[in-house]
Amino acid sequence: MNAYVTGLSAAGSIAPAGTAENRILTFLQSAHFDRPTLVIDLAGVTQQYRALAAGLGPARIHYAVKANPERAIIEELVRLGSGFDAASRAEIELCLSLGARPEDISFGNTIKRTADIAFAHQVGLRLFAADSEEELEKIADNAPGAQVYVRLLVDATGADWPLSRKFGCAPDKALRLLDLAHALGLDPVGFSFHVGSQTRHAGMWEQTLDQVADIWWTAQEAGNDLTLLNIGGGFPAFYEEEIEAPTAYAANVMEMVRARFGDVPHVMAEPGRGLVAEAGMIAAEVLLVARKSDSDLCRWVYLDIGKFSGLAETMDESIRYQFLTGRDHEETGPCILAGPSCDSADVLYERRPVALPLGLRAGDRVVIRSCGAYTSTYASVGFNGFPPLDVVVI
Ligand SMILES: Cc1ncc(COP(=O)(O)O)c(C=O)c1O
Repeated sequence: MNAYVTGLSAAGSIAPAGTAENRILTFLQSAHFDRPTLVIDLAGVTQQYRALAAGLGPARIHYAVKANPERAIIEELVRLGSGFDAASRAEIELCLSLGARPEDISFGNTIKRTADIAFAHQVGLRLFAADSEEELEKIADNAPGAQVYVRLLVDATGADWPLSRKFGCAPDKALRLLDLAHALGLDPVGFSFHVGSQTRHAGMWEQTLDQVADIWWTAQEAGNDLTLLNIGGGFPAFYEEEIEAPTAYAANVMEMVRARFGDVPHVMAEPGRGLVAEAGMIAAEVLLVARKSDSDLCRWVYLDIGKFSGLAETMDESIRYQFLTGRDHEETGPCILAGPSCDSADVLYERRPVALPLGLRAGDRVVIRSCGAYTSTYASVGFNGFPPLDVVVI
């Protein structure tokens, strides 16, 4: 039996039959790579889409393409009837080229290139996001008459990868932007927000939904006929800490939405991480195990993948990836984990070291769990001459 599967069994069968992890680990038994490689299990994406859709009920999924724009994923989601949240012309073109209809793609970036807005309008996109006067003016000039939703600034909820601060606008401004959109000949249809990526439990949405509902009802009372609520992403993946299962999580969120907003004609959700992260694992390799001195408590383990080659979300040690090795049945000790590049910022985990087998050595394979989101596109094109993360879809 393969060392990983043996290791996993010893660790308590974390990859039961029928799961994406099990299929990927089976595939890895006979796969050899000459660089770090993300293996995506397409059936895992399908399973997760169905699980989220079951909980979201009438809410329409617009997959956040940025999480993983792999062609096979987009094609499969088109087949399943998903919509798409695009951040740029390239993402729009990708979705269109793989069969998505323009009316199923929303342009959700609040900082758009003017030429991209004109392109999107020309190819038939109808729905655009904005959180400022100038963005509305750009949309009015380049996509006249388009539907727009205003992105709201919401307080941080405790998400592991918060998206507050940079995006959205305050409530009083949001109301003024609806008026401005009308004045510019646009069709302001509603609001969007993002609760923060990797929001581990549905209960953590409560406060954000309260804030958004306040603004929603104030806008309705001011005479706006709002028909769209875009609840964004935030749906979690399993890394280190326990999370709710996708269907229950999504159903709980929708229950809270209904309680506050009633029957909104169109609710949209934009899962990225929650849809694809658990469908991918990275096969990496140990390049070196060393100690800085004989009395060093921690070993330094250098992998062939780091912050600049796909694991950018280890910034501030925010996302805690889980590692599997063929030696997981052996005794472990604390390690500082680092990438291969010459940049001293390329340290993955140091504040909270990672427990890895004492026998780990150069040449050992390390499999990193839940890597299907925000990895392949974060990889640099060739820092230090290392090739970018490769992707294989099974
Ligand atoms: C506008 C928008 N929607 C959705 C997402 C996806 O979020 P998540 O991966 O947490 O589901 C993002 C992520 O950055 C985003 O910017």
